[in-house]
Amino acid sequence: MAETDQARPLAPVRIHPRSDDEEKALKTKNRRRKVKLCGCITAILLLLLVIVIVILVFTVFKVKDPKVTTNEIHLTNFGLNLVQLPTPQVKINMTMVVNMSIKNSNRASFKLGNSTTSVYYRGISVADAEIPPGLVIKARKTSGLNVTVDVMADRLASSPDLVRDVLQGEMIMNTYSVIPGRVKILFIKKHVEVKMNCTMTLNISTRGIQDMNCRRKVKL
Ligand SMILES: *[C@@H]1O[C@H](CO)[C@@H](O)[C@H](O)[C@H]1NC(C)=O
Ligand SMILES: *[C@@H]1O[C@H](CO)[C@@H](O)[C@H](O)[C@H]1NC(C)=O
Ligand SMILES: *[C@@H]1O[C@H](CO)[C@@H](O)[C@H](O)[C@H]1NC(C)=O
Ligand SMILES: *[C@@H]1O[C@H](CO)[C@@H](O)[C@H](O)[C@H]1NC(C)=O
Ligand SMILES: *[C@@H]1O[C@H](CO)[C@@H](O)[C@H](O)[C@H]1NC(C)=O
Ligand SMILES: *[C@@H]1O[C@H](CO)[C@@H](O)[C@H](O)[C@H]1NC(C)=O
Repeated sequence: MAETDQARPLAPVRIHPRSDDEEKALKTKNRRRKVKLCGCITAILLLLLVIVIVILVFTVFKVKDPKVTTNEIHLTNFGLNLVQLPTPQVKINMTMVVNMSIKNSNRASFKLGNSTTSVYYRGISVADAEIPPGLVIKARKTSGLNVTVDVMADRLASSPDLVRDVLQGEMIMNTYSVIPGRVKILFIKKHVEVKMNCTMTLNISTRGIQDMNCRRKVKL
C-alpha cells in the first residue's frame, strides 16, 4: 500500500526566539502601517474641510444683493407760480420724499455708504440729496429709508419745456438713486452698489405722483 502524506509524521515545530533583525523588521512594518493610516485620516479630514469650505462659500459666505424697493414718492411741498405776461414763466418749488425700503437677505449686516438721490426733469438735473452714510441693516432685516429732495426752482426754470408741460398738466420726471454699501462676513468684505432709476409723472392739478416705474441695477 502506498504511503499517504497524511501518514507522514509532522515535522517538529521549531520554536526559537526572534532574532533582533526580525523584530526590527516587524517594527518598521508596523510603523509603515501607522504612517499609512495617519495619511489616510489626514486626507479624509482635508477632504471634509474642503467640502465644508465649498458649502460655506455657496451658502453662508455667498453675498446676496440688497433688495431696494421704491415704495412711494410723494410731494410734501408744492408751490407753483405761473406768470402769463409778458412772456409765460413758471416758478415751481417742491420737496419730494422718496420712500424706499432695503431688504438685506444676507446672513451678515449691510452697511450703507455715501448714497445720493438726484432728480431729473427732461434730462436736466434739478436736485440732489445726500444720504448720510452709516445706516446698518442687520442680517435678514428690512429697513426703511426716506430721502427728502428739495427741487430748485431756478434749475427747473432753465428748461424750455417747463411752461408747456405745466400748461398741459403734467411733468415727466426721474429720480436716480445710487446706494453703495458693503456686506462683511467674518473677514470677507464685499462691496455692493444698487442703482435705482424711477420715472414718474407729476400731475399738476392733483399735485400727486402717478405712473411710477422703477428700474434697478445691481453691481456685486
Ligand atoms: C419757494 O419756497 C420759498 C421758501 O419756502 C418761498 O419763499 C418762495 O415763495 C417759494 N416760491 C414759490 C414759487 O412757491
Ligand atoms: C463719504 O463721503 C465723504 C466725503 O465725500 C468721505 O470723507 C467719506 O469717506 C465717505 N464715506 C464712505 C463710507 O464712503
Ligand atoms: C418714512 O416716512 C414715512 C411717512 O412719511 C414714515 O411713516 C416712516 O416712519 C419714515 N421712515 C423712516 C425710516 O424715516
Ligand atoms: C414709507 O416707509 C415706511 C418705513 O420707513 C413704511 O412704514 C411706510 O409704509 C412707507 N410708506 C409708504 C406709503 O409706502
Ligand atoms: C391728473 O389727475 C386727475 C385726477 O386723478 C386726472 O383726471 C387727470 O387726467 C390727471 N392728469 C394727467 C395729465 O394725467
Ligand atoms: C433713467 O431712465 C430714463 C428712462 O428710461 C432714461 O431716460 C434716463 O437716462 C435714466 N437715467 C439715468 C441716470 O440712467
